[in-house]
Amino acid sequence: MTNTSGTASNNLDAFWMPFTANRQFKANPRMLVSAKGMHYTNAEGGKVLDGTAGLWCVNAGHSPDRIVKAVSEQIAEMDYAPAFQMGHPKVFELAARISAMLPNGLDHVFFTNSGSESVDTALKIALAYHRAKGDGTRTRLIGRERGYHGVGFGGISVGGIVANRKTFGTLLTGVDHMPHTHLPEKNAFSRGIPEHGGDLADELERIVTLHDASTIAAVIVEPVAGSTGVILPPKGYLQRLRDICDKHGILLIFDEVITGFGRLGASFATEYFGVKPDMITMAKGLTSGTIPMGGVICSKEIYDTFMNGPENMIELFHGYTYSGHPVAAAAGLATLDVYKEEGLFERANDLAGYWEDAVHSLKGAPHVIDLRNLGLIGAIELEPIPGKPTARAFEAFLKCYEKGVLIRTTGDIIALSPPLIIEKEHIDQIFDTIRTVLGEIA
Ligand SMILES: Cc1ncc(COP(=O)(O)O)c(C=O)c1O
Repeated sequence: MTNTSGTASNNLDAFWMPFTANRQFKANPRMLVSAKGMHYTNAEGGKVLDGTAGLWCVNAGHSPDRIVKAVSEQIAEMDYAPAFQMGHPKVFELAARISAMLPNGLDHVFFTNSGSESVDTALKIALAYHRAKGDGTRTRLIGRERGYHGVGFGGISVGGIVANRKTFGTLLTGVDHMPHTHLPEKNAFSRGIPEHGGDLADELERIVTLHDASTIAAVIVEPVAGSTGVILPPKGYLQRLRDICDKHGILLIFDEVITGFGRLGASFATEYFGVKPDMITMAKGLTSGTIPMGGVICSKEIYDTFMNGPENMIELFHGYTYSGHPVAAAAGLATLDVYKEEGLFERANDLAGYWEDAVHSLKGAPHVIDLRNLGLIGAIELEPIPGKPTARAFEAFLKCYEKGVLIRTTGDIIALSPPLIIEKEHIDQIFDTIRTVLGEIA
């Protein structure tokens, strides 16, 4: 490969890659060197169709001219402004535009730099909110088995993916988990929202009974769980969670890091499902993956609760050096422009039916034990090779890459989430390639 100074270098050792089998990768690297629209180009000069929008983030397609321009201009005009006790106009505009996309009352935005930071921020706001209301005994946080909420200590504590938790000590105390909603024995091969399992929300009532509502601050769920391999909310499930939280004065947080910004063919999952949480965490699609940025959208009630006490006092002792970074804010504004002008959320909605048919066309293909879809999300669950979990899906991933299609696997599940600019012929290419590969692998 070529290093940044243009000289050949084979030393891949120094970089400790995240969520990667480092030794396996470094023995046979897969290097991407440029990207435009729906495609990457790899170091060998091959074109790779992006079936995953990077990591669920490049919703507007790669390197749109408008975002590239906005980012370059912003760096030239002002690289950075202190985030504490100082401001700059673009971040205020971005917050206002995001809150205008959401149901009334979800109208204050706290910026972060990633999904993980957004989750930890939302959990902290939940605790501090109850305390500010004089309800300081509400300290428990409730997540869900198989949930993914990033990799901060808060996020892995409420998260429910064993591998992400088990080596990191005792995590936060006072956390409990609801069961996940993956019921393949009842819902396998469902199209869209599954019929069975809405009553699993009642497990929250059981947890409330166990701990008492007066000890519980918040419940956090992904409206559609992505990283665990795409688990959809059964019919009625999210509304039932909302009702139980309302009944007991518990805050409901939707982690919309992957569902925000058009993935389901609506601005956010809250719009798609018609269920309103008290906070929404976001990242990824906020800048279409161009510049790291995340945020927490809070209800007016939460924000107003903090805007008490002496006006010269800081209301929330929390924030990041790069909260609302000017370059990220410029990227965010340009990204929202692209979404709007190109009608990308509507486009995702229009294509969802074609996508669903394409996903379910794999029924009967070798190794396939379930297929799931919603909006522009698809999951192909493969039967694991006995004694070798993850190996079959990973081989499919490698073979698809060789054939010029980037997919993503988690366990033995292939998860697909293409940029929203995808064309029907790209959808055909993705699924034709997967079908061929499933016929080739052991
Ligand atoms: C639902 C959800 N929350 C949080 C995160 C963490 O985001 P980040 O990797 O930007 O920290 C992710 C990332 O995939 C996610 O899917």
